[in-house]
Amino acid sequence: MDLTLPSEDGFHWKDHVLYCEDVDLEKATSRFGTPLYVYSRKAIEIAYRRYADALQGIPHLMCYALKANSNLAIIDVLARLGAGFDIVSGGELARVKAAGGDTKKVVFSGVGKSTQEITDALNADIYCFNVESIPELDRIIETARQTGKRARISLRVNPDVDAKTHPYISTGLKKNKFGIAINEAFNVYRHAAQFPEQLHITGIDCHIGSQLTELSPFLDACHRIVDLIDKLKEHGIELEHIDFGGGLGITYQNENPPTPAELIANLRQILCDRGYDHLEMVFEAGRSIVGNAGALLTKIEYLKKGEEKNFCIVDAAMNDMVRPTLYQAWMQIVPVNTQKLPHDEQVWDVVGPICETGDWLAKDRSLSLEQGQILALLSAGAYGMSMSSNYNTRVRPAEILVDGDKTYIIRPREEVQELFANETRIP
Ligand code: LLP
Repeated sequence: MDLTLPSEDGFHWKDHVLYCEDVDLEKATSRFGTPLYVYSRKAIEIAYRRYADALQGIPHLMCYALKANSNLAIIDVLARLGAGFDIVSGGELARVKAAGGDTKKVVFSGVGKSTQEITDALNADIYCFNVESIPELDRIIETARQTGKRARISLRVNPDVDAKTHPYISTGLKKNKFGIAINEAFNVYRHAAQFPEQLHITGIDCHIGSQLTELSPFLDACHRIVDLIDKLKEHGIELEHIDFGGGLGITYQNENPPTPAELIANLRQILCDRGYDHLEMVFEAGRSIVGNAGALLTKIEYLKKGEEKNFCIVDAAMNDMVRPTLYQAWMQIVPVNTQKLPHDEQVWDVVGPICETGDWLAKDRSLSLEQGQILALLSAGAYGMSMSSNYNTRVRPAEILVDGDKTYIIRPREEVQELFANETRIP
């Protein structure tokens, strides 16, 4: 049985029991029930500081991409470290405000910004709109005119580089819906420059994909962007910042992604070589901040042995964590107490109670299991709870944040009645 932890920033083994910081996770589940998301404050802070430390002395804005995990407590932990935020909806802007984050450090990405969302963001005086199309630019100009505000903008360019990641989370290719083609961007900047009263052109942005485990796509994108910055400069358009997006991968199994320090040093080198070291470096990191800081704890309901497969049926399902079935993502799964295990290991598919064959969390894992035991699905801090749903009228898990030996419930388990409280019957 493989008991390797993908990261030891927040989780470790102590006397055969899995701990989050100083908290025994088996005991935590007796107290808070399952399924349960547990996050380590320390791991979040370590991950954030890896970026912040590498950016020291360099003009920068370090944003956290809320979509990875948008619980207010997590936003607050990061806001206290000085983080800005990358948002993609009015809902996420409302979360930043509710958590006390600084809206002046918000960048707004996404291909479908509504007029209402643009108005709210202008009123919140956000740092920058990452504009993804010409019609969106026109809408921002019009909304700025109507509200009497000046919008700070950057164009999200699509540099047409292969991020070498899962096709669903690759965003920087011509065939993807994101950004403005790099060859068109020059003309769009020139168009934007004709509206100085409504627009303040501050930067350029790209985000080429997620869970990137190599440096080269980031560096290729950077070179292409700097070529465009050269051309803009020749035509009198001077930028103030360059936003490299998010996308840095984490270790789920045996991936060995570059560290934030390596990424930043290499990008910085390009900027220095090409005479742009004065440009502010912006990042929109999500997964690499919270991914390894979380786990999903779940109880084994039944062990069901089939003719071809053995199924370990747990109380968490694809509605709680959709990554395995949606992206065929491999996530480490371990028993939280390995002391009292039966000795025989068998090969199991770990599946949930939902009525779909796609409802699985792990496949073909060699594990020694017992009914009633607690399992931990690791590296579940990013794109877990934030992508959860109530499919099959299942209440979503509770979330707890661990800080040393303290545990805080940062979202209680939902009650079934809440799920249909706003539904009504017709006469
Ligand atoms: N900025 C933009 C514009 C993005 O679209 C994303 C993620 C990020 C930043 C943050 O990327 P990160 O640092 O987390 O890689 N649900 C998928 C990942 C989807 C990523 C979407 N965009 C998964 O679970 O793998």
